[in-house]
Amino acid sequence: MISTDLDLAEKLLINNKLVAIPTETVYGLAGNALSEEAVAQIFAVKNRPTFDPLIVHSDTLVKVKSFVLEFPPKAILLAEKFWAGSLTLLLPKKPIIPDLVTAGLPTVAVRIPKHPLTLQLLQRLEFPLAAPSANPFGYISPTTAQHVAEQLGEKIPLILDGGSCSVGVESTIIGFEGETATIYRLGGISVEAIENLIGEVKVKTHSTSNPLAPGNLESHYAPTKKLFLGNLREILQKYPPQEIGTLVFREAISEIPLTNQLILSEQGSFTEAAKNLFAMLRKLDKMPIKVIWAELLPEKDLGRAINDRLRRASAKR
Ligand code: TXA
Ligand code: MG
Repeated sequence: MISTDLDLAEKLLINNKLVAIPTETVYGLAGNALSEEAVAQIFAVKNRPTFDPLIVHSDTLVKVKSFVLEFPPKAILLAEKFWAGSLTLLLPKKPIIPDLVTAGLPTVAVRIPKHPLTLQLLQRLEFPLAAPSANPFGYISPTTAQHVAEQLGEKIPLILDGGSCSVGVESTIIGFEGETATIYRLGGISVEAIENLIGEVKVKTHSTSNPLAPGNLESHYAPTKKLFLGNLREILQKYPPQEIGTLVFREAISEIPLTNQLILSEQGSFTEAAKNLFAMLRKLDKMPIKVIWAELLPEKDLGRAINDRLRRASAKR
């Protein structure tokens, strides 16, 4: 069921049931992060391997501090500047967080999401919410309640409807080792914004099989149709134009029928492009075309996170 009923959401979560929740990045599939029974269901419903740890969501810094052992100075700076918002911090966990949540890792991924409905829900609850993106493992992430319903609607009792996500790509994930901060997943907060605040950071998002951040698996966020990047001429030698759909940044491609093309942002806004990315990929996946070609954006700001998602969505499966 799709609704905005917070009383029902609260009741279900207290009873170890799952609820899909809106965040500013993508919709999450939420359960009580302190309950192994609820967390186990998250893995089952998503068909997600248990080596892939979950992000824990809370609504205040005080609550977050109650389930981590340490909060390094750089992490505090980041939390104060970017929470509530699209940044996930990796911090040493207290035993209260089940090992199932962190896939046995000593750190837990935490964030305060920026969506009024979900913040209200978190305020009511005495426990934090573990929530991966509410899509089947490996498929395009959902940015509306309807996206969630299309794939998980039968499997969960409630999808809280918070409209379409304002950011549209997942949170940036950052971890700390002594004085060094490392970004493990590019996302809604840009590398530039982070470096402005805490100085230079490492970016390490290319592990292909490293379970430390399976959002970094080579193939992820992928449509069912084959997605190509790179030289469009080569694709045009293999497929007639009417069988190709395109996802372009600012302008349509002259060789392809206009009806097959989706434009991320005519104004060339990265923010608008990120917000449209997953919904447009889904739309293309449903069009009567054979393959999708996507244009890469300039490698800066949110363009980097968008390109990261496109590259993983296009990886050979
Ligand atoms: O924006 C988001 O982060 C969304 C919304 C729902 O909050 N959530 C999300 O969750 O994208 P998910 O499960 O699709 O991606 C979480 C990523 C995974 O790649 C996982 O490997 C990584 O976070 N992760 C979680 N805990 C970790 C840990 N302790 N160490 C390293 N990576 C971790
Ligand atoms: Mg995901």
